[in-house]
Amino acid sequence: MSKRNKKIGVFDSGLGGLYIARAIRGALPDYDYVYLGDTLHVPYGKRADAVIYDLCIKAMAYLFARECDLVVMACNTASAAALRRLQQEWLPVAAPDKRILGVVVPTLETAVDSRATRIGLLATARTVTSKIYELELKKINPQVELFAQAAPLLVPLIEENGGKYIDEVLGDYLEPLLDEDIETLILGCTHYVALKDRITRMTGGTIDLISQDDIIPPKLRDYLNRHPEYEGALSQGGSFEIHATDANELFARNVRELMGEDMALIPAVY
Ligand code: DGL
Repeated sequence: MSKRNKKIGVFDSGLGGLYIARAIRGALPDYDYVYLGDTLHVPYGKRADAVIYDLCIKAMAYLFARECDLVVMACNTASAAALRRLQQEWLPVAAPDKRILGVVVPTLETAVDSRATRIGLLATARTVTSKIYELELKKINPQVELFAQAAPLLVPLIEENGGKYIDEVLGDYLEPLLDEDIETLILGCTHYVALKDRITRMTGGTIDLISQDDIIPPKLRDYLNRHPEYEGALSQGGSFEIHATDANELFARNVRELMGEDMALIPAVY
């Protein structure tokens, strides 16, 4: 039996993944977590694949060096732009004993389980143009139709506390999806967890929302049950560290609001 000294890493371009990490910790409180937000480079949504790939390699190496043998890549944009290449080209050479888990497939599995035949996707421009959701959906259930809407202004508004401007922008993004009579809407960006209540209000609660803070914790629990070689190596100190490539005051304030407590931010330098 291996020594229990490994942690679970959660990665995002900025603040959004913290919603997912918080939900994972709520469901699986015993393990030790390291959250990394690449606040220096957020938003990823407007960046080229090659740039995102390079940023992800550095982020993964940082988390692996901190005993995170399992990393949840919470960022949809990073998953869309870089995950497959990381798993196929980089990981087998650089860290064959580590795992990077994406969020796109588990999210689609949940959407398909809801039996909807017309699914909407709200995501960053990069996630939408990658067509990753369409490609993966075809493998899961080719009968289901997906309507995607890029929402490039939402992440900056959420990161920059632009709450009072969001309804108008969000309304414009939702309109074409509602015109397609979608039954279910995937919030395909971690940041959009912050918009759940607004969207429910704006759509009159008529559409099922698939939000990754609800989905990822039970999916991770399943994964750990199926992979005792990873679960058995996890330490159980119940700690939760937050690392950021730019531990600035705005991020600190957002973290405080989201976590409901003051938490030390650890500068991630790499
Ligand atoms: N939170 C990221 C996601 O899930 C996107 C934010 C960004 O554009 O950096 O897609």
